[in-house]
Amino acid sequence: MTISTTSLTSTDDHRESGAALPQGFVIGSATASYQIEGAVDEAGRGPSIWDTFSATPGAIVNGDTGAIADDHYHRMEDDLDLMASLGLEAYRFSIAWPRIQPLGSGEVNQAGLDFYSRLVDGLIARGIRPIATLYHWDLPQALENEGGWTNRETAYRFAEYAAIVGAALGDRVATWTTLNEPWCSAYLGYGSGAHAPGRKEPLAALRAVHHLNLAHGLAIKALRETVTLDAEYSITLNFHVLRGDHESSPEAIRRIDALANRCFTGPVLLGEYPADFLADTADITDWAFVLPGDLEIIRQPLDFLGVNYYSTATVRMWDGESPRQNADGHKDVGGSPWPGSRDVEFQVQDGPYTAMGWNIAPDGLEELLVSLSEQFPDLPLMITENGAAFDDEVRDGRVDDPERVDYLHRHFVAAHRAMARGVDLRGYLVWSLLDNFEWGYGYSKRFGIVHVDYETQKRTVKASGHWLQQLIAERRIP
Ligand code: NOJ
Repeated sequence: MTISTTSLTSTDDHRESGAALPQGFVIGSATASYQIEGAVDEAGRGPSIWDTFSATPGAIVNGDTGAIADDHYHRMEDDLDLMASLGLEAYRFSIAWPRIQPLGSGEVNQAGLDFYSRLVDGLIARGIRPIATLYHWDLPQALENEGGWTNRETAYRFAEYAAIVGAALGDRVATWTTLNEPWCSAYLGYGSGAHAPGRKEPLAALRAVHHLNLAHGLAIKALRETVTLDAEYSITLNFHVLRGDHESSPEAIRRIDALANRCFTGPVLLGEYPADFLADTADITDWAFVLPGDLEIIRQPLDFLGVNYYSTATVRMWDGESPRQNADGHKDVGGSPWPGSRDVEFQVQDGPYTAMGWNIAPDGLEELLVSLSEQFPDLPLMITENGAAFDDEVRDGRVDDPERVDYLHRHFVAAHRAMARGVDLRGYLVWSLLDNFEWGYGYSKRFGIVHVDYETQKRTVKASGHWLQQLIAERRIP
């Protein structure tokens, strides 16, 4: 999203403590299957691309894998009680496709469906609304062996999987998201190689963009045919919030906005790929893999748009000589995820930063929400992820994380401000309930509002968890 912002001061933020959150605005937390479940070889689960990738030497910090993670698979009941103790109104989880179809097609593994069925029942019994994400990156390895998201067939397999899950859970789950952050799946998975399956092929990344979009459209249709509740359907996108400053260039902003944001919102919400996106990538592909009828399938009516927001970016055209910054603000070591825009560089953002090195910019959230609601006025929004990693420690049985409390406080205030400006925002899900496997960073980065001791699997609610508990209980920003 292209936005221009003026910075807010901390004084401004804190003046809005006490702001009330409207009735019906759902507040909760989120996780994803591979990041928390563990039990990767149990109950018939097949291997996913993340099992393969994390076993690749050098791929993940410290050689970490999701083999055990938070052992949530075995500790689900306790984790449900934890959610209830925090007062969560909603819990966003993802379903591991390889638990449902170990080979990504054909035979259904009933034990996998049963696991999520118990999770959903446990949520409902505690008065917590289940929000199910069908795909949070754990593609069955068997499908990657056939080309993964570069292969059109994967989109059809995804629709079959969606129908299976819709039929099994659609009598109890009323809120659905198809894909989580397809930008990451396509560009990090097939472009920069930072994520599974670790491929570095510009054409593969662009094919993946389209097949993920197609999978989304097919899955929405499959869910509508199988879910029996009067349900809400969505996709979750991570927007690049591109800010202008004296060093940024409108051309660089346009390119990254097209490559990161509009290549998804265009087909999904408007039924077309932006002409400038197609032009920017014309040296890589003629897009002949977009077949007649695809865009009609992709553009399905949605009930809300899921928005994941963490920080902002500033981009400029690269001079072609000086060391280039990549999308993380680090030196680009040749792994740019940006096919078709090799001559753009990301600038280092002003701090403060989280432990990820991401800049903290709550005003970016406000402007993103306002901008989306201006572009898509009839589409409600939900913050499906927002949160921060910090280097937390347990001391005397407590975890004090004032920086995360402050981060959440400022972002809730920003969301509240957006609503005051007329944004139809339906909810806010904090990433994440538990410290967990942070993809390429393994367990070295902690995003939880609940601390996890990976030696003992002991959970300790952080001060930020208590802060969220208070916010939900009072329905005001503490
Ligand atoms: C977005 C992803 O959906 C989630 O899996 C990840 O842990 C967070 N960002 C933090 O990086």
